[in-house]
Amino acid sequence: MRHLMSPLDFTVEELDKLFDLANDIEHNMAKYAHACDGKKLATCFYEPSTRTRLSFESAMLNLGGSVIGFSDAGSSSASKGESVSDTIRVISCFADICAIRHPKEGAPMVAASKSSIPVINAGDGGHQHPTQTLTDLLTIRSLKGKLKNFTVGLCGDLKFGRTVHSLIHALIRYPDIQFIFISPEELKVPDYLTDILKEKNIPYEEVIRLEEIMPRLDFLYMTRVQKERFFNEEDYVRLKDFYILDKTKMELAKSDMLVLHPLPRVNEISVEIDDDPRAAYFKQVQYGVYVRMALVLTLLEVEV
Ligand code: CP
Repeated sequence: MRHLMSPLDFTVEELDKLFDLANDIEHNMAKYAHACDGKKLATCFYEPSTRTRLSFESAMLNLGGSVIGFSDAGSSSASKGESVSDTIRVISCFADICAIRHPKEGAPMVAASKSSIPVINAGDGGHQHPTQTLTDLLTIRSLKGKLKNFTVGLCGDLKFGRTVHSLIHALIRYPDIQFIFISPEELKVPDYLTDILKEKNIPYEEVIRLEEIMPRLDFLYMTRVQKERFFNEEDYVRLKDFYILDKTKMELAKSDMLVLHPLPRVNEISVEIDDDPRAAYFKQVQYGVYVRMALVLTLLEVEV
């Protein structure tokens, strides 16, 4: 039995197979409509979500399966003091696979250690968000036709943004990737990640101004400032609108640069660029359903 805690739980070759499957699902949806008949997915979300939870639920319904779960810790027995370990033992009696989001880093790992069904980390604190990374990689591979030889800009809250941390981990396994981190001083990418880049001789730069590096980017990964991880409101208010991607900045970019964002967006991308052909963030959401379908099939070892 396999779980998914980090994008590194799958080898690059396994990810290629997963993305091939996701692309086949994209083009032949009907073929998979009964692949999970009789199977149940539990979504246990201790933190708010729109995309990840509903994308998992949509994925399982598209496969013919059913979904159970909770979307708020307050409506679960966590509010009475039940541990994640006990909850997953109980969920294992009800479902065949479980996606769990939790504000505490490592909570999905604790669940996996006590589970008798596959557990998927749907986001743990400021740590990792591996299925967002699968979504991001599938989007890039599908729209660019490759996963190599890119200058990647990551912009915004690089300190608390778990999608950024997972994506860096995943991209360093592909050839000729160069990173440009764009953030205010207070929201720089954590040292443990830049240490890994130094160790592996992967080129990176850290800058504050977005404008100066726009012309060099093959894709720009925008992120929101993670209000829920700040210790005080004052710092959040000061930093929340530090970057706003608008038409003027997009004029500096390559004609085929992709703009990605895990969403939700707050103010960091102006709605005036939503119709720019380079804006890929809503396409990303659709790819998220295909890749979660592929992931459920893979972890449940269902052959179609
Ligand atoms: N991208 C993402 O994790 O969105 P949600 O918080 O809405 O699930």
